[in-house]
Amino acid sequence: MKVATAEFLLSAHHCKQFLRDGIPEVAFAGRSNVGKSSLMNRLLNRKGLARTGSTPGRTQAVNYFLINGNLYFVDLPGYGFAKAPRTERRRWAELMNDYFGRPEAPQTLLLQLVDGKVGATRLDVEALAYFQSLGLEPLIVATKIDKLPRTRRPRSLTSIRERLGCAGGEMIVPFSAVTGEGVQQLWGGISDFLERRRRPAASKSLNQVGMK
Ligand code: GTP
Ligand code: MG
Repeated sequence: MKVATAEFLLSAHHCKQFLRDGIPEVAFAGRSNVGKSSLMNRLLNRKGLARTGSTPGRTQAVNYFLINGNLYFVDLPGYGFAKAPRTERRRWAELMNDYFGRPEAPQTLLLQLVDGKVGATRLDVEALAYFQSLGLEPLIVATKIDKLPRTRRPRSLTSIRERLGCAGGEMIVPFSAVTGEGVQQLWGGISDFLERRRRPAASKSLNQVGMK
């Protein structure tokens, strides 16, 4: 997909600020510092659009970006930032519950990012169980894959798959914000999602004949 325009819209610190205008949303979730903002910037080919940094907890609100006037990218604050004060962590949990508990949430495409080198941690496993309990089936992305030599990648991806309990056919997209690996594959997933939203009847009939 060609990104003609990408602009920051707003930082929501409270559920009242969440956007509810029917525009499709792609949300990025993952541990603090896993590379959510970097991945978004790389997908959009806009270096400083979402703020990135080596200090975990850089993104603390639900940040909305408008892409081509007809799609939102939603950069979520990372989970598991242990050094954050307790009140802040509680505020984060409430914000996430509000975001994922919205009636529109099941229509969101959720990308769950897992560090390709570190692997899936206990927090990643718990977060996935939480998303699944809400009826969401996130697309899993293994980030910072450039940090792993190619020979070690298959073993790391298999281990992430096992930890997360992914069934054989489910896709894990290896990604690097440094080299751009995985960009096309993720845009493919986003385009499929948008197509399914545009033509729900068509995807339903595919489901019915067992083709999907
Ligand atoms: P929070 O907003 O704190 O939750 O972090 P985040 O998940 O948005 O991570 P962010 O994109 O800010 O990246 C964290 C650090 O990892 C930064 O220092 C990035 O430069 C680095 N980083 C992100 N993606 C990659 C990648 O693909 N490869 C490498 N080598 N480093 C990366
Ligand atoms: Mg961030």
